[in-house]
Amino acid sequence: MVNMKYHYLVSFLTLAKCILAQFCPDYSNFSQQPHEPYSSGIHKLSYQRPIPACRTFNSSAMESLLTSMQSNITDPDLYRLFQNTYPNTLDTAIKWRGHAANNTAEELTFIITGDINAMWLRDSANQLQSYLPLLKAEKDWNGMDGLGSLYRGVINLQARYILTSPYCNSFQPPKESGIPPATNDAAANDVVEPPYDQAKVFECKYELDSLASFLQISSDYYEATGDGAFFGRFQWASAIQAIMNVARAMQTPTYGDDGMVLQSPYMFTRQTTRATETFTNDGLGNPVVNGTGLIRSGFRPSDDATIFQLFVPSNMMFVSYLSACAAIMKELGASASESLASEMEALAGDVKSGIEQYGVVALAPTPDHSHSEAGTIYAYEIDGFGSVNIMDDANIPSLLSAPLLGYLDRSEEVYQRTRKRILDYHTVSGNPYFMRGPVINAVGGPHAGPGMAWPMASIVRIMTSDDDGEILQSLRELVGSTDGLGLMHESVNTFDAGKWTRQWFSWANGLFGQMILDLADRKPGILRESFQ
Ligand SMILES: *[C@@H]1O[C@H](CO)[C@@H](O)[C@H](O)[C@H]1NC(C)=O
Ligand SMILES: *[C@@H]1O[C@H](CO)[C@@H](O)[C@H](O)[C@H]1NC(C)=O
Ligand SMILES: *[C@@H]1O[C@H](CO)[C@@H](O)[C@H](O)[C@H]1NC(C)=O
Ligand SMILES: *[C@@H]1O[C@H](CO)[C@@H](O)[C@H](O)[C@H]1NC(C)=O
Ligand SMILES: *[C@@H]1O[C@H](CO)[C@@H](O)[C@H](O)[C@H]1NC(C)=O
Repeated sequence: MVNMKYHYLVSFLTLAKCILAQFCPDYSNFSQQPHEPYSSGIHKLSYQRPIPACRTFNSSAMESLLTSMQSNITDPDLYRLFQNTYPNTLDTAIKWRGHAANNTAEELTFIITGDINAMWLRDSANQLQSYLPLLKAEKDWNGMDGLGSLYRGVINLQARYILTSPYCNSFQPPKESGIPPATNDAAANDVVEPPYDQAKVFECKYELDSLASFLQISSDYYEATGDGAFFGRFQWASAIQAIMNVARAMQTPTYGDDGMVLQSPYMFTRQTTRATETFTNDGLGNPVVNGTGLIRSGFRPSDDATIFQLFVPSNMMFVSYLSACAAIMKELGASASESLASEMEALAGDVKSGIEQYGVVALAPTPDHSHSEAGTIYAYEIDGFGSVNIMDDANIPSLLSAPLLGYLDRSEEVYQRTRKRILDYHTVSGNPYFMRGPVINAVGGPHAGPGMAWPMASIVRIMTSDDDGEILQSLRELVGSTDGLGLMHESVNTFDAGKWTRQWFSWANGLFGQMILDLADRKPGILRESFQ
């Protein structure tokens, strides 16, 4: 009888939840409309959190933080932005949580990127990275309801994805969720080597930073909790082995010693009108030389094709988190893990010396003579034959974000020279993808095109700066360029704040909150400023 009552209660609650969920507005739509109450500042920013019943994850630590920060952030518009953006992934993007069908101890978390119903390795790792300060403070990280569980669920699911299709970047919901796979018309006719299953993979663009993202979230979780034992429980070590195999395979050059064209481990072509959505040379990409130590990346973190495959920012990220994960691997104790850990350290060392030897190039003079000073900077991409691409793109990993990736210290000279060039305000020749205008000044990229600045790049600029003037200017632009909607857009037209892309971009939202917490720690005085 008691059991029956309980059963009815559970059924009733489940039904009630379902009915309620019918009334939850689609957030793709909700985030395009302003909602009351508006902030009291000049920008009258919309309130953009779903009502509690419609949120996809509840965290009391998040709610307390949002409340307590109200007294640390003076400007009402800035506070509203923090309040809307920081919880955005928890509020809207935790699409499903559960356990593996063949192991009920194995937690799984399916996180969507926002307005696309698929899980990106890069986005999901970064969406959770925003909550690292909360995870660090979580006493019961081992519990099933907290952020620790979310992290473990993402690491487990990413491990499964990587073992399924290690060259792919974006994946379908796990079978256990019962959520049907999303259709991806753009990718339907892609010709990709190695082939993949569209029921499991949403898109298969090989991006070195996707693999580095698995390393990143693993190292983030380990650093916050010290829970080394978790990594020995499921498929983590096998996923790391798969990553090592891809990394070594993608050091393959285009030509063998005898001049023979080598089989590329990864090939991609798409029928498209956008040059950045397919590879040259019928899927091979532009040729790369042997022996730099760098690992090729087919695509950038913008999901745009690389021009030269030796893409420096992803290699920096890979070095940094591969070393961090070698320490976790060592802790697993078995002799196989010890030897894998040494291989990881050795590979990280090779790639790092490759970056420093071939990825650092002399500054070329520009026609307006604004770059006449001598010195070296990091290239964005190289091919090893001597061609280099001097630019930066907003998406992380970028050159600008190198200190945040843990690759270098922001005081390092080569980084500082690179940063100056990337962010040049006064000339068009500093970085071909630096976007200027009255609304916002920031790095952009080919993904949204010239004229569109990315708020994400302003955030990274703030997080890599010690200069209060620079921080205040970028922050003021961010506060004033959301079109009243109170969320971080993917890109914003530098001359018209009403023109932007992506209303629901969870990663950028979380990153904004992460930046505010970084300022609260480093420069609390900035949060007392007015942006009115
Ligand atoms: C989007 O939201 C508006 C305003 O709340 C509503 O009128 C409209 O029907 C919604 N559209 C869709 C497709 O849900
Ligand atoms: C979050 O809490 C609200 C009540 O405040 C509840 O209605 C909702 O179902 C909870 N969401 C989840 C995912 O548990
Ligand atoms: C559980 O299933 C996954 C695929 O969903 C598979 O990769 C894994 O090896 C299985 N684990 C065990 C212990 O059978
Ligand atoms: C690449 O260079 C290494 C030495 O740096 C050599 O051992 C290897 O055979 C070369 N591979 C190819 C395909 O040329
Ligand atoms: C808010 O400010 C108070 C007083 O300066 C400080 O003690 C507290 O740590 C700050 N909170 C956060 C989250 O930074």
